[in-house]
Amino acid sequence: MASLNPKIENWQDRSVWIVGASSGIGWALAQALSLRGARVAVSARNADKLNAFVLSNPKSFAAPIDVQQSDSVQAASLAVSAHQGLDVVVYCAGHYLAQDAKAFDAQQLLLHQEVNYLGAVRVLSCVLPSLKAQGFGHVSLISSVAGYRGLPKSLAYGPTKAALTHLAECLYMDLHELGLGVSAVLPGFVSTPLTAQNTFEMPALISPEEAAIAMIKGYARGEFEIHFPKRFTRVLKLLRCLPYAWYFPLVARLTKGARS
Ligand SMILES: NC(=O)c1ccc[n+]([C@@H]2O[C@H](COP(=O)([O-])OP(=O)(O)OC[C@H]3O[C@@H](n4cnc5c(N)ncnc54)[C@H](OP(=O)(O)O)[C@@H]3O)[C@@H](O)[C@H]2O)c1
Repeated sequence: MASLNPKIENWQDRSVWIVGASSGIGWALAQALSLRGARVAVSARNADKLNAFVLSNPKSFAAPIDVQQSDSVQAASLAVSAHQGLDVVVYCAGHYLAQDAKAFDAQQLLLHQEVNYLGAVRVLSCVLPSLKAQGFGHVSLISSVAGYRGLPKSLAYGPTKAALTHLAECLYMDLHELGLGVSAVLPGFVSTPLTAQNTFEMPALISPEEAAIAMIKGYARGEFEIHFPKRFTRVLKLLRCLPYAWYFPLVARLTKGARS
């Protein structure tokens, strides 16, 4: 099958900006790309962690950011562009708290929307003008298989990930013809601070380092949808195709342990 994006196979001296790189998947990806010779700019709120990363990765650059604040996003974007230019932007910032509609908490829904979706919009508004002008580059949004369809306790998180995947699809339709790559990354369960709150046994759990390797393979193949681990995500892809009359009762049964 022809690849949907320009393949990224060589990371040597490629300029990468990872937003949400102070822990978890973003941190592991930043490490893996630095090892492959990329110049990695790392962003998140925790400046101490970013500075620690820069200390052990001399070609890297720390640009603290709060994705909820437009001024902060603009300042970080300008700092990264001035320091190293931009080839690849990975939006990895995320917030997750299990939420159930029986205890509807609008503040939490709005916070998820702010960090997971609107933060990506703020970053895109800063980076797209220069990527379009240079006619090459890649934007990668870390979404989730939790955005495929409704899931229990996913009231605040799931809709933001559905929106993020949809956003990536629309970006692809418009930007591919300009020579830009766009990808949506859909991990299953990855062992990070974000999932540490889960009290149930997470199926097919992988490490952030394994997630980073899967992403790098996806970029090398020029994939639009980079999903992993396949033994888990393929099952969810099948569930996604079921009619609601089958989907709701089956998922209720499969997630009974996780909901109690
Ligand atoms: N772990 C999983 O199983 C899994 C599965 C599917 C998708 N994902 C997605 O993968 C991405 C990375 O998550 P993770 O699992 O690696 O969790 P994580 O270790 O908690 O990483 C989340 C990152 O987002 C940053 N962040 C949060 N709020 C921010 C804000 N307001 N401004 C700037 N940065 C902010 C955090 O840094 P600071 O706190 O320092 O700001 C951190 O670097 C998220 O989008 C998540 O939804 C994770």
